[in-house]
Amino acid sequence: MLIGVPKEIKNNEYRVGLIPASVRELILHGHQVVVESEAGIGIGMDDDAYRAVGAEIVGDARAVFEKAEMVVKVKEPQPTECRLLREGQLLFTYLHLAPDPNQTELLLNAGVTAIAYETVTDRHGGLPLLVPMSEVAGRMSIQAGAMCLEKSHGGAGLLLGGVPGVAPANVLVIGGGVVGTNAIRMAMGLEARVTVLDRSLERLAELDLQFGGRLNTIYSTKEALEEYVLDADLVIGAVLVPGAATPKLVTREMLGRMRPGSVLVDVAIDQGGCFETSHATTHADPTYIVDNIVHYCVANMPGAVARTSTFALNNATLPFALALADKGFPRALADDPCLLEGLNLHKGRVTYEAVASALGYDYLPAREALAL
Ligand SMILES: NC(=O)c1ccc[n+]([C@@H]2O[C@H](COP(=O)([O-])OP(=O)(O)OC[C@H]3O[C@@H](n4cnc5c(N)ncnc54)[C@H](O)[C@@H]3O)[C@@H](O)[C@H]2O)c1
Repeated sequence: MLIGVPKEIKNNEYRVGLIPASVRELILHGHQVVVESEAGIGIGMDDDAYRAVGAEIVGDARAVFEKAEMVVKVKEPQPTECRLLREGQLLFTYLHLAPDPNQTELLLNAGVTAIAYETVTDRHGGLPLLVPMSEVAGRMSIQAGAMCLEKSHGGAGLLLGGVPGVAPANVLVIGGGVVGTNAIRMAMGLEARVTVLDRSLERLAELDLQFGGRLNTIYSTKEALEEYVLDADLVIGAVLVPGAATPKLVTREMLGRMRPGSVLVDVAIDQGGCFETSHATTHADPTYIVDNIVHYCVANMPGAVARTSTFALNNATLPFALALADKGFPRALADDPCLLEGLNLHKGRVTYEAVASALGYDYLPAREALAL
């Protein structure tokens, strides 16, 4: 199969669909890969790195889209890219179609077969192509929070781990899923005092087993939330209620009762945020202060560490990309119900129920669409 990798054109996107190591694997499987010139430059991979593993470098995106049978990207295609796609071609990338009627219409008109990273599942019902970005964001949240606790960023002037003779800071992680677990790990590594709140007893038990007595696991009630938020120097918002808006767990009223200079990092901001006073920020201007509390609410945290994020994403996407290239998409999708869950659009039809219902399209189950 001929696989194409365009340079990402979304504002401030430095990641790339395939790293040279992934290209090498595809070529070892007998496929050809065309890469747009400088596609990997944002992660320090120049054209020679791709040439060295056997990729063909082409001068512009149009040439990639014209040649490729499968286009592998990171972000949803921008309007100019949508217009370069066609029926019979496969697009494998993050799509997030439900809130994006414009993109959906353009891709339906193109007739392209589109598999969305974010809806591919695993055997346990998890979302394996979202996990790497949650891991990155969870680990980054402590790094970002530690920086915000410094005086120059409006923080209380605390070092997370303290020093001998001076107490460490209190870190509260709300939501002990993928983001939360990675935040806990980093906070413990810096020797802060760490508490996690979760609504799932099962999850708390798993965290207790994983981290032992060094982690304080607390069942999340309104009472517990108030008690631990008011005593925290750094709060990480990492909750997710699948299919629902994120609950506003920390209210504005509570801010006034926290210690001045404490920090809120709302990782869940991409789903609306779990602090009442959160609004999305960017890496260019990541923080703001409300009632003496520093807020860090960057909606696309992994973008700042594009190189790590790209490698992590490739580790998760490569097995699927290989299956799609080796078998062709009809066979690969028919063989793997988890990959089939990723099919969002095929031949002008919406094949993912939540996207169809969000945007008012008729829904055609993926298996029926593939038989068209
Ligand atoms: N800002 C970014 O760049 C970025 C990057 C990756 C993920 N995220 C977001 O981070 C959030 C967490 O993602 P995840 O992968 O860890 O999800 P996850 O499903 O693995 O974990 C969510 C956890 O929240 C818990 N929870 C739900 N309601 C709760 C409540 N009321 N109190 C306490 N805990 C509660 C759940 O039991 C679960 O353990 C999501 O909103 C995700 O979209 C943001």
